[in-house]
Amino acid sequence: MKGLFLTLEGIDGAGKSSHIDALEALFKAEGRQVTRTREPGGTPIAEILRTMILEQPMDPLTESLLVFAARRDHVVRVIEPALARGDVVLCDRFTDATFAYQGAGRGFDPAVLSMLEQWVQGGGRSAGPEALLQPDVTLWFDLAPELAAERLAGARLPDKFESQPVEFFRQVAAGYAQRAAGTSRFLRIDASQSRDQVWQQVEAALAGRGLVASRIGRAS
Ligand code: TYD
Repeated sequence: MKGLFLTLEGIDGAGKSSHIDALEALFKAEGRQVTRTREPGGTPIAEILRTMILEQPMDPLTESLLVFAARRDHVVRVIEPALARGDVVLCDRFTDATFAYQGAGRGFDPAVLSMLEQWVQGGGRSAGPEALLQPDVTLWFDLAPELAAERLAGARLPDKFESQPVEFFRQVAAGYAQRAAGTSRFLRIDASQSRDQVWQQVEAALAGRGLVASRIGRAS
């Protein structure tokens, strides 16, 4: 069976992570092996880099280099082997987050990010767009930044990005919208609805693409 690389994206507070358990159950009900992972992170080295990225102030180039270094280790050790086995890889954030957060949010040059993307997802060398490892499908949890901020308020101790002002998240959200406009792999989910309604949209979107045959309702 062919592997499936599925990523979840959206601004902090959009609620994407709360659907990963149900996604895993959905694909398992279809008889698929599932590898669950996240970025930054997913390997011992990448998790160490995650702590640095989320806790230490740094300039946007340093941040982008660390994010892509973590990604390289993650791609080589986890994502590519899982896809080669035929697994469904459920990855909480991937490169779209870098274009949204470091690019649109922090104002870093997207041309440099594209270059890093080519190296890291193109087999360790500069590669054309067709040779890049990219998600097959991206669930984009789209939510107004003001609503996301309300949901985040008081939820837990915010990390470096979560404590940014709403204006930062307006830019990040615009970055996601721009990235989504250039590709058909994005499935936009209206994340302003209730958790159950959001899940129904997720199931319907995946079924609409022929990625799942059945629906299970909420698993948790
Ligand atoms: P998140 O995925 O929201 O995890 P949690 O649910 O544990 O908070 O947090 C990861 C943070 O890292 C999020 O604020 C976005 C940020 N990030 C980047 O800035 N660039 C990236 O390339 C990635 C993958 C994440």
